[in-house]
Amino acid sequence: MDDLRAFEPDFVWGVATAAYQIEGAAAEDGRSPSIWDTFCRVPGAVANGDTGDVACDHYHRWPEDVAIMRRLGVSAYRLSTAWPRVLPEGTGRVNQAGLDFYDRLVDALLAAGIRPFVTLYHWDLPQALQDRGGWPERRTAEHFAEYAGVVARTLGDRVTDWTTLNEPSCSAWIGHLDGRMAPGLTSIEAAVPASHHLLLGHGLATAAIRAEARATPSVGIVNNLSPCEPATDRPEDAAAAVRADGHTNRWWMDPLHGRGYPEDMVRVYGVEPPVRPGDLEAIATELDYLGLNYYFRNVVADDPGGRPPFIRGVPVPGSQRTAMDWEVHPDGLASMLVHMTEEYGARRLYVTESGSAWADVPGADGAVRDKQRTDYLERHLAACADAVRRGAPLRGYFVWSLLDNFEWAYGYDKRFGLVHVDYATQARTVKASGHRYAELIREHAALGGAQPPAPS
Ligand code: IFM
Repeated sequence: MDDLRAFEPDFVWGVATAAYQIEGAAAEDGRSPSIWDTFCRVPGAVANGDTGDVACDHYHRWPEDVAIMRRLGVSAYRLSTAWPRVLPEGTGRVNQAGLDFYDRLVDALLAAGIRPFVTLYHWDLPQALQDRGGWPERRTAEHFAEYAGVVARTLGDRVTDWTTLNEPSCSAWIGHLDGRMAPGLTSIEAAVPASHHLLLGHGLATAAIRAEARATPSVGIVNNLSPCEPATDRPEDAAAAVRADGHTNRWWMDPLHGRGYPEDMVRVYGVEPPVRPGDLEAIATELDYLGLNYYFRNVVADDPGGRPPFIRGVPVPGSQRTAMDWEVHPDGLASMLVHMTEEYGARRLYVTESGSAWADVPGADGAVRDKQRTDYLERHLAACADAVRRGAPLRGYFVWSLLDNFEWAYGYDKRFGLVHVDYATQARTVKASGHRYAELIREHAALGGAQPPAPS
């Protein structure tokens, strides 16, 4: 693949997962329930009544999963730590057994030549904190910084790459406004304060990591951003696209870059974020890198009768769509990387998630020939190369996901993995896309890129 020449020799080739989606062992070794354990028990909230109780049983099978990554030749693994494993009450008492799990995992990754990228919050708030108000409460941001400090103190002698929050817009908007994710609220009065306290938590946690980690840390945040376009030429739809951009992109990127919250969106929401003196400075702390999760573009129409921001998605006729019903649109990835560079002056970027779900069916021989995922991967890597040629300082790419896993409200029906998981037996099978990814990593190495770890 000629596009690989666009990537620097030390380009990071990664795979990503998240704690609740793969670990299982929900009640083991002192882990307390998270908001997702609670949400999964709400009738009708999650497809098939699925839960993360067992998931991919990664809590017990992690040595096998590290060995798979090593065989694929990835240079990095983006994982998340589970707050309810580390601080079961969300604050105060530290659960050593929970920390020990991540300690062992980090050691094993480093021994395998795989660089751990640790995300501290991938949506699994301890239920104990939700019971005290959750993210709409300011104290949650302070507790998050406390938890970040605990993890950084333990792992920060070996882990250098840290992410505070994964996709805070999903936590705030889908969790508190649309109600399709935990904690399942549908209130703009809860969602706006939640968004502010998430961002404040990012700022405070960044300071805590920098104070506690012994190896100089690189700290960033991961946002899921999308280009937003009007579905028609109507002025109402053009205005809807501006609101979609505000909701999806600017509400998060502007305060992180010292611009405060976009005024037009404060008017759309009709709710002021509860900003106190010093908050905006804390949020705009310097980022060592920006992580972009990219899945689709937003093509929208005006929806005056809906919830804020009064938009609805409109499928583009004839577009290719994944099993999530998301449009395949690699150009959007290139344009967002370039936008982050030109508009926000990003100096270091990672694509921290990129991937697709398809209805994979193993053949009679057990092999999974997932041509659509392989094409998707190649086309999105080509988009990354295009962005690099247009000046984006892209330093790495993480496939979502290493394993098929618990896809939140969709349960186990949607499979994103490079590795197929048979949930009845927990057998792992590398799919054709996984083999192709390994081949691309080797090809890049052959061009003078960093050598992948030797297979064990
Ligand atoms: O599975 C999720 C992940 O947890 C966050 N980003 C999007 C993925 C696919 O929906």
